[in-house]
Amino acid sequence: MIALGIYGSPRKNGNSDQLLDRALEGAASEGAEIFKVYARDLKMDGCHECGGCDKTGICIVKDDMQNVYPLLEKADVIFLASPIFFYNLSAQVKALIDRSQAMWSKRMLEKSAEERKSYDSGKGYLIAVGATRGQNLFDGAQLTARYFFDALDMSYEGGIFLRRMEKKTAIQENPETLEEAFDLGKKAVSG
Ligand SMILES: Cc1cc2nc3c(=O)[nH]c(=O)nc-3n(C[C@H](O)[C@H](O)[C@H](O)COP(=O)(O)O)c2cc1C
Repeated sequence: MIALGIYGSPRKNGNSDQLLDRALEGAASEGAEIFKVYARDLKMDGCHECGGCDKTGICIVKDDMQNVYPLLEKADVIFLASPIFFYNLSAQVKALIDRSQAMWSKRMLEKSAEERKSYDSGKGYLIAVGATRGQNLFDGAQLTARYFFDALDMSYEGGIFLRRMEKKTAIQENPETLEEAFDLGKKAVSG
């Protein structure tokens, strides 16, 4: 069982980073092999919309995203973590998501419309934090996450959504949510 954590925040050790750390610790406690990607460290573009992947499912843009594709392919479970920025995911992780267009093309090439009604490559979870208490705070991020995981042939399984987190250390005042993240990690890999 391979679990991949995608860290979407530009802020090192911030709220979403800490929640994702705990989720991965939970997954590791069940024996999962853990891989991590930090979107903030990747030297990469967003999608060029060049059509280079249309007939092959392989992205032709040579940058750090080429090291991420194999991890997206082999992960059985992916935890995507991000702060809410303007009611969606961070730009850093959105660039990575847009580049998964190559995997969307691959799925279209490899599976029929009937086969695409099911997801055969694993499960995806979203961990998102925002500063406000808005009712619709996570709607945009959840839609984006759902269709990211769809492109990866993975089902979207929901996750953890936490409001009123602004300071970098705010999550420390919510030990129960860190525990919830640990439990989510355990549950996600133990089937
Ligand atoms: C550019 C930017 C945009 C933001 N937009 C929102 C927003 O639309 N809604 C919200 O509730 N919080 C917003 N925030 C606050 C962050 O979501 C919040 O501080 C969060 O805890 C950061 O998570 P992190 O520590 O994992 O980076 C924004 C912060 C920044 C820097």
